[in-house]
Amino acid sequence: MSILVIGGTGFIGPRVIRRLVERGEDVVCMDVNPSAADFSGFGGDVRVVYGDVTDYEDVSRTILEAKPDRIINLAYLLGGGEDRPHFTMKLNIMGMDNCFEAARLCGVNRVVYASSIAVSGQQSHFGDQPINEDAPSYGTSQYAMHKRFNEFQAQMFIDNYGMSITGIRPANVTGPDKVRGSTDHVRCITLPASGEPVRFPQKSIKRLPIHVEDIAEAFTRVLLADSSHYPVYNSGGHPISLGDLADMVRQFLPDAQIDFDSEGGLESSGNYLVDNSRLRDEFEIEYAPFRQRVREIINAVRQESGLPPVA
Ligand SMILES: NC(=O)c1ccc[n+]([C@@H]2O[C@H](COP(=O)([O-])OP(=O)(O)OC[C@H]3O[C@@H](n4cnc5c(N)ncnc54)[C@H](O)[C@@H]3O)[C@@H](O)[C@H]2O)c1
Repeated sequence: MSILVIGGTGFIGPRVIRRLVERGEDVVCMDVNPSAADFSGFGGDVRVVYGDVTDYEDVSRTILEAKPDRIINLAYLLGGGEDRPHFTMKLNIMGMDNCFEAARLCGVNRVVYASSIAVSGQQSHFGDQPINEDAPSYGTSQYAMHKRFNEFQAQMFIDNYGMSITGIRPANVTGPDKVRGSTDHVRCITLPASGEPVRFPQKSIKRLPIHVEDIAEAFTRVLLADSSHYPVYNSGGHPISLGDLADMVRQFLPDAQIDFDSEGGLESSGNYLVDNSRLRDEFEIEYAPFRQRVREIINAVRQESGLPPVA
């Protein structure tokens, strides 16, 4: 199969592309930063082209040239953008719409895209209960509102044209090389791993980390499926406070310097109790144990820094 990955040279994209190639798919990757990832090890199986998702002509031309069977859109603005609403709107809203519309007009019926756990808003809206995809969306940041509109727009294309469009709402994706989006739960691992101290405002604030390799596998399975039962899926993850994450890191690095300004934070946590049974059951997804993922991140950072691995 031929797959077009839009926004494929960032954090999640290269891991999805590696999986697609390993499964024998031909990949065309379109990105405004085409050289940000190195696909030279994949031989001729990955072709990277420059293209701006906010430019409808770029998207449709790339689709017409690549003739993909499937498209996945990962291009988005992560972290910031609240001070540039017009630019961010073009990328997040018009960019996504360009993917749906160009796919439709070019005859590509199956599109997968990234929504986000941010659509749900604060956990306090839901009490202590895990929520599934039917729960109302309370996210109010620009990023959350854009993801909410992406889901609405996807449904319009599904309803009007019978397209097979599926969104995944990744939780707080983590990995050694994550630099954009939510990063406190990442820095809580990566800075101690290289021997640096780190400090956070709140100890009890909860996150829902999911390792980037696990979310990449989820995107790959959903993308390779001919269709999905539901229009959108929660990724879920491992609910944990920054304080408990610090304790987990100290199990591997007893001298880790992780400090907090205050004990609080639970009440200001975003949604961290999530029912992801729809994704797990339909796509037979099983995540690696989170503790193992933390050790992998520590050792990836230590290898990069020339430090010995932790056992
Ligand atoms: N990383 C997370 O924690 C997380 C959590 C929830 C949802 N998501 C969603 O997953 C998707 C991928 O996230 P990521 O972490 O890989 O992000 P990323 O920022 O690392 O990658 C985004 C990619 O999009 C490209 N891009 C930006 N503007 C573009 C444009 N105009 N045209 C074409 N390409 C453009 C960037 O160059 C980059 O390669 C995003 O939609 C994001 O909102 C990520």
